Amino acid sequence: MRHLINILDFSTEELQELIDTANDIIANPAKYSQVCRGKKLATLFFEPSTRTRLSFEAAMYELGGNVIGFSAAASSSAAKGESVADTAKTISCYADIIAMRHPKEGAPLVAANAASIPVINAGDGGHNHPTQTLADLLTIYREKGRFDHLTVGLCGDLKFGRTVHSLINALSRYEGLKFVLISPEELKLPSYVKKDALKQKGIPYVQTTDLESAMPELDILYMTRVQRERFFNEEDYLRLKDSYILTPEKLQNAKKDLSILHPLPRVNEISVAIDDDPRACYFKQVLYGKYMRMALIMKLLKEAGKL
Ligand code: CP
Repeated sequence: MRHLINILDFSTEELQELIDTANDIIANPAKYSQVCRGKKLATLFFEPSTRTRLSFEAAMYELGGNVIGFSAAASSSAAKGESVADTAKTISCYADIIAMRHPKEGAPLVAANAASIPVINAGDGGHNHPTQTLADLLTIYREKGRFDHLTVGLCGDLKFGRTVHSLINALSRYEGLKFVLISPEELKLPSYVKKDALKQKGIPYVQTTDLESAMPELDILYMTRVQRERFFNEEDYLRLKDSYILTPEKLQNAKKDLSILHPLPRVNEISVAIDDDPRACYFKQVLYGKYMRMALIMKLLKEAGKL
């Protein structure tokens, strides 16, 4: 059974196939409108979400399928103490594919090991968020036409920001990349991500606290929110939350073809004054996420022999 738990579960060729399928869906949506007729997606969200859950649901409906699920642990039997493994076995009796978000790192992997249907990690704690990476990759591909030879700045909460971890893992497989890791000291990229994705592959990176000095060399700027829900104390969150606020003034020395991405939700990290700048890609990124999730659902259902 094929699942998507970590973005590295898919080869670069498979990621390119998903991008090609998503681009074909964008060009020919009618071709795909009944592909998943009679199939059910279960969205098991033990943690809040707007984009990921609703884009999965929109994706399944646009493929002609149906959706069941819950949007909070409190409304499921997890509130009575049911395990993730038992939940996954139960949902395997009702649905054809699962998308799961959970606050505990590794929970979707536990579900995948217990389920008899494909499981997609829709975000596990501060660990990974591979389907956000699918949205990020399609955005970069449509904006830049390539993944190689880019200088990518990642700014904000690089410690708890699971989207950053998955994106670095995905991009680390392409040639000529350079990463600029911009964060407060306390929110630096975890050593395990640096070691596995960057150091072992000899990929150049710099760590800095200074966004403005880094700006001129960036082809992509990936802004992130400080992840309040992962902090142990509110005082630290309040001290760090506004470490970086991107404003039009801070873009004065940026490249004319810079692409600004953000997985969203945004709190205060990007001024709304930037939303109309042609370099702002974050709402296109939201839309592209739906097409990549459509491509992903089709791929996993086909590999499970369900399409
Ligand atoms: N990007 C993202 O995961 O957004 P949600 O938390 O709204 O799903």
